[in-house]
Amino acid sequence: MGRISIHKLKEWKAAGQRFAMITAYDYPSARLVEQAGMPIILVGDSLGSVVLGYDSTVPVTMEDIIYHTRAVVRATEKAIVVADMPFMSYQADPNEAMRNAGRLLKEGGATAVKLEGGSHVAPLVRRMVEAGIPVMGHLGLTPQSVNQFGGHKVQGKTPAAAAKLLNDARALEEAGAFAVVLETIPAPLARMVTERISIPTIGIGAGPHCDAQVQVFHDMLGIYDDQRTLRHAKRYAVIGETIREAVRAYIGEVESAAFPTAEHSFEMDNSTLTELAQVR
Ligand code: KIV
Repeated sequence: MGRISIHKLKEWKAAGQRFAMITAYDYPSARLVEQAGMPIILVGDSLGSVVLGYDSTVPVTMEDIIYHTRAVVRATEKAIVVADMPFMSYQADPNEAMRNAGRLLKEGGATAVKLEGGSHVAPLVRRMVEAGIPVMGHLGLTPQSVNQFGGHKVQGKTPAAAAKLLNDARALEEAGAFAVVLETIPAPLARMVTERISIPTIGIGAGPHCDAQVQVFHDMLGIYDDQRTLRHAKRYAVIGETIREAVRAYIGEVESAAFPTAEHSFEMDNSTLTELAQVR
């Protein structure tokens, strides 16, 4: 049957059908989310923080994204797989940006790429789309610019900043982007953007009026216990505690010799045992 087409997303927007996106970075997580019916998976550069232990997305490399995208692609058959372009893989030189975007499709197997920025990246987005590379935009609190923003602050709060964000969204749409992530902006602004462009808006910390929502896998599943100041994240489970409890139980059963039992062990023929008993 193949993967869902990126064009479906625009059809869904036109029909008022909302959809979810989630990040995944490896085979088991991608398999689980696809089995749950997720139509679109982002191999986000958030993997720097939630998988690789960095304190931002800045150190993430092309090799990191390709490696993780390949695992996600191997695990899925239907979902659109979007690979994030890491910091400095597209900012320095447009030709290098084209080659890097191409690598995410050719070597990573991604369906599409995502990059951060508005009007200033629109010419690059157009060039990628013309070369056959589907592009998702990303506006608002773009984490690769966290050092420029001076922290994780809500964006688009002043009239000038909000107007710029609206123009940026239009520029991405005109350049041929198939969707745009809106991160950590006021809900009324996200609503305005959503109403004024024909491509889907995918919100995270952007309120309820976007066409779609995206969450980070580890945030929504409660894998870390130190995370809960993130206002944009909703915990649908507390898997971290479930894992810790299971591991504690395993340690306890090994220490008390309750595990393994015969159920988890393999027997030997009596005749073989008798023969073995002769061996000195
Ligand atoms: O890297 C990521 O996970 C993202 C989402 C937060 C949109 O860019």
